Amino acid sequence: MPMLGLGVYDMYQKQAEQAVETAIEIGYRLIDTASMYENEVEIGNGIKNSGIDRAELFITSKLNNTDHGYEEALKAFEKSLQLLGQDYVDLYLIHWPIKAGRAESWKALEKIYTEGRAKAIGVANYTLPFLNELKQYSNIQPAVNQIEFTPWLFQKETFEYCKKAGIQLQSYSPITRGIKFSDERLAPLCEKYQKTPAQIILNWNLQLGVSTIPKSVQKQRLQENFDASNFTLDIQDVLFMNTFNDGFRICDDPIIFL
Ligand SMILES: NC(=O)c1ccc[n+]([C@@H]2O[C@H](COP(=O)([O-])OP(=O)(O)OC[C@H]3O[C@@H](n4cnc5c(N)ncnc54)[C@H](OP(=O)(O)O)[C@@H]3O)[C@@H](O)[C@H]2O)c1
Repeated sequence: MPMLGLGVYDMYQKQAEQAVETAIEIGYRLIDTASMYENEVEIGNGIKNSGIDRAELFITSKLNNTDHGYEEALKAFEKSLQLLGQDYVDLYLIHWPIKAGRAESWKALEKIYTEGRAKAIGVANYTLPFLNELKQYSNIQPAVNQIEFTPWLFQKETFEYCKKAGIQLQSYSPITRGIKFSDERLAPLCEKYQKTPAQIILNWNLQLGVSTIPKSVQKQRLQENFDASNFTLDIQDVLFMNTFNDGFRICDDPIIFL
């Protein structure tokens, strides 16, 4: 799985198609969409228009909150494939650990995986209690856990659990949608490495071994974010950024689904 990919939440129609095409042209190979984003058709079109060989891409989609349950999840997966215009996805995730149905949904994902229609299956927003619960009834361990993870939401316990278990952590809303760019502790790092706040934050993810999926529809920012892998933060700067944690979140705390 590529460590840096394109998130496509909140992009629609021609803009979404164009963003995917531009990203692929720049070199992105991982595209992270979801049924919830209501743009699977456009993402599929962008992929086709790019002319790239499908085997070179890594496409992720996710089970929507409204589609939990065994049969429901199987049906929703087929619908996503159809909308994307794909025979398979590289990764299919449970988007949120909705209480009613999450166990049955995981069983459906295991079936999808066994049939080879998703090359890997995983979860999103599964913090520790959800991972522990999943362990009780799963036959297949999730390959990936996608969570909100930034220097300001350094979820150490989940990070360490996934590392130990061999579950690839992937960070969403990785650049805090720009909200934390003004944190004064970032400026000296930008100066030291001659990089932008987005690049410093994305590189922090990569140095920790966390895959990351920043979203942009702007060519210059797509390039800027992609270039975040072209340098290496010193370990003391990575450790310093680990101390930024103040619990800041963009999305809901999954704890509401306990
Ligand atoms: N599993 C989940 O529950 C979940 C939840 C949230 C997100 N996600 C996934 O994670 C992806 C990324 O998260 P996100 O979209 O919430 O937030 P994000 O990637 O942290 O930030 C995206 C926002 O920042 C702007 N931006 C992008 N690059 C920039 C740069 N270099 N400098 C300044 N601004 C920049 C974008 O605007 P422009 O587009 O105008 O550049 C957009 O408004 C999503 O697209 C989605 O695929 C998953």
